[in-house]
Amino acid sequence: MTDHLFLRACRREPVPRTPIWMMRQAGRYLPAYRATRAKAGSFLALCKSPELACEVTLQPIDEYGFDAAILFSDILVTLPAMGLEVDFPDAGPKIANPVRTSAQIAALAVPEPVPYVIDAVRTIRRALADRVPLIGFAGAPLTMLTYAVEGGGSKDYAHTKQLLYGAPKDAHSLLDKLARTCARYLAAQVEAGAQAVQLFDSWGGIVSPGDFREYPLRYAKQVIAELRATIPRDVPIIYFVNGCAPYLDDYASSGADVLGVDWRVGIDAVRRRVGDGVALQGNLDPGALFAPPAEIRARVAEILERAGKLGHIFNLGHGVLPQTDPEHVRAMVTAVRELSAS
Ligand code: CP3
Repeated sequence: MTDHLFLRACRREPVPRTPIWMMRQAGRYLPAYRATRAKAGSFLALCKSPELACEVTLQPIDEYGFDAAILFSDILVTLPAMGLEVDFPDAGPKIANPVRTSAQIAALAVPEPVPYVIDAVRTIRRALADRVPLIGFAGAPLTMLTYAVEGGGSKDYAHTKQLLYGAPKDAHSLLDKLARTCARYLAAQVEAGAQAVQLFDSWGGIVSPGDFREYPLRYAKQVIAELRATIPRDVPIIYFVNGCAPYLDDYASSGADVLGVDWRVGIDAVRRRVGDGVALQGNLDPGALFAPPAEIRARVAEILERAGKLGHIFNLGHGVLPQTDPEHVRAMVTAVRELSAS
């Protein structure tokens, strides 16, 4: 297990080539995913079936030979057990009863890990039979707070900022509950067989640098510290902040083994600022996959050059877009394999 390229790169051990996986690698750009989702009937039904979740987790591994699998689920599946009603219509996730008051925050539970997800982790590990390592994941506290209070996606995060800056005590109380839920959930995924975990702070980048320390980073650190005390040392913890560039000095202090890098910043600039104590994962613009294969290859080459081989896991800077041509994904994977081996 310790020999997998991906795990070695997470530990900054030398590797013969750069490992690659892709955020949202099991998703709508893949015809096989759309077929399984249709068979399941809905996105939530797909998440709730360990067998079907396992099937879609393995599809991109079989199709492209990615160097890691990521559990098929969603960051929002922890919310119903806390007391929130989540639905996934085509327009994006919706929460029927968003949290806006201190009474609503006080009523939220810190629940047991979602049983069907833990079952899916076991099922997937068995099906993978150690071909590639399995990454578990959860939403970081601030990102989960945005969904809980906005009731879905947002343009300006007005409810989020009303809570953070208008009622900071309530915000801290909610973030603490989300952090405890997250740590417990990830520890259970590791216990069930996840060989690495990623904390998605998709909306951690919406605040000023001082507020980054006070809110997203502080509670990601709480999760990471609690996990580090619970899970085996050789299970890497990845922390991904979408829009990390304004916070690089603080980002390095998260306690994670690997930092995710979005595409808005050069990965070499990130390396200079965070030092050599962590591995870096990223950072091709998901939109670059709309370019012709030769251009994709050139952009892959540039990132490999900037990142260097030690402690780099190739990935997109955020999730793959549903409109992506599957053959362009193959062009990216081939380029990473060929160019990083030479
Ligand atoms: O990476 C993988 O292949 C694992 C699967 C995965 C999903 N969601 C499946 C999914 C992962 C890791 C997530 C995490 C997730 N979910 C995040 C963090 C990563 C990120 O992209 O920022 C967030 C913010 C969510 C919340 C969420 N779920 C949104 C905003 C949406 C709608 C937008 C969209 O991409 O469709 C979802 C639905 C969702 N989660 C889909 C998938 C494959 C599409 C649902 C469908 O099949 O109709």
